[in-house]
Amino acid sequence: MRIVPVSLGNRSYQIKVGSGWLPRLGAECARLKLGQRCAVITDTNAGRLFAKAALKSLAASGFDPVLITVPAGEKSKCLALVEKCHDQLAAHRLERKSFIVALGGGVVGDLTGFVAATYLRGVPFVQVPTSLLAQVDSSVGGKTGVNLKSGKNLVGAFYQPQLVLCDLDTLKTLPKREYVSGLAEVIKYGIIYDAVLFAQLERNLPKLLQRDAATLRSVVARCCEIKAEVVGQDETETGLRAILNFGHTIGHAIENSSGYGKYLHGEAIAIGAVAAAKLSRTVLGLPSGDGERVEKLLAQAGLPVTIKLDAARRKKLFAAMRLDKKVSHGEIQFVLARKIGKVLWGQKVPAEAIQAVLP
Ligand SMILES: NC(=O)c1ccc[n+]([C@@H]2O[C@H](COP(=O)([O-])OP(=O)(O)OC[C@H]3O[C@@H](n4cnc5c(N)ncnc54)[C@H](O)[C@@H]3O)[C@@H](O)[C@H]2O)c1
Ligand SMILES: [Zn+2]
Repeated sequence: MRIVPVSLGNRSYQIKVGSGWLPRLGAECARLKLGQRCAVITDTNAGRLFAKAALKSLAASGFDPVLITVPAGEKSKCLALVEKCHDQLAAHRLERKSFIVALGGGVVGDLTGFVAATYLRGVPFVQVPTSLLAQVDSSVGGKTGVNLKSGKNLVGAFYQPQLVLCDLDTLKTLPKREYVSGLAEVIKYGIIYDAVLFAQLERNLPKLLQRDAATLRSVVARCCEIKAEVVGQDETETGLRAILNFGHTIGHAIENSSGYGKYLHGEAIAIGAVAAAKLSRTVLGLPSGDGERVEKLLAQAGLPVTIKLDAARRKKLFAAMRLDKKVSHGEIQFVLARKIGKVLWGQKVPAEAIQAVLP
């Protein structure tokens, strides 16, 4: 078991990484000294697999949980479901000291976090992430929110959980494509912050692909550590936190312009990371060997590293890039790498240079 602290003053909390955490959910919540009434918000997939164990554990520790299940998929990150969840919390008479558990992937975590941030102007919540992406990324750091028709994550709040329980056992049932998609974020942490982690990933990729427990524990914990360090220094993304967006400027535009769902988030990020590495070579002199290692590791993990673009799609992709939240004063800003393990944010790049690295 590994415990990773997230240091944010009176909003500090722990991330617990290891096997067997879900059956201990109730005992862990009891340590937080919250109210007796609580809710577990999950989706149809995670609910089918894990709700019973979560409810049993909570009940065994004396809590009175209500289960709220939303449909699986990105569409559930919407205001209509926020309201539905609020109504069910009110019907179950949750009060200020009550708490909510987010049991599922990033969709459930983002939705639940926002529901918790807004119900009664904020009730405590606990993250139990069950996808690799949620364990290494979305459950940590307090970004919560939902989508609007006009764009992703446009409504939200910075709202930190009281605890994050990463039960590695839950990853066993994750579909391969989802798991591999999560690996894109894992590899990203190596690129942006930790050359040693990157080299470890290169060495241990076969074990990681087999979901070997010891390898997963060390990798998930290291990714959480990095996210915690970054968020601890820049909770609301005024600077450093932007490095977590490496590969995301082009990645988001790919997700957006190809219609959500065609590429999973990590798949789009992998393509974006390779393009960002190429840009890094021209703009910051990233050694070509480093760029090749990035592309090779992503490809070996089973991620796409390139995309076919005709003139029309290229135009659409560019338009999508300009709509990204990270655009400031009309200029597209990138996180670029100097070398593996070291990146710079806020790099303004001319449109021609971006064109040149797109396939
Ligand atoms: N808040 C943040 O900082 C942050 C960061 C990155 C991504 N996100 C958000 O996270 C979301 C993506 O998260 P995701 O990739 O986890 O998607 P997801 O929540 O949709 O989960 C992916 C799929 O796997 C299923 N699933 C989850 N755990 C499972 C398990 N253990 N076994 C079997 N199936 C399981 C889900 O039901 C779903 O069908 C996006 O909405 C994205 O915007 C948020
Ligand atoms: Zn991401």
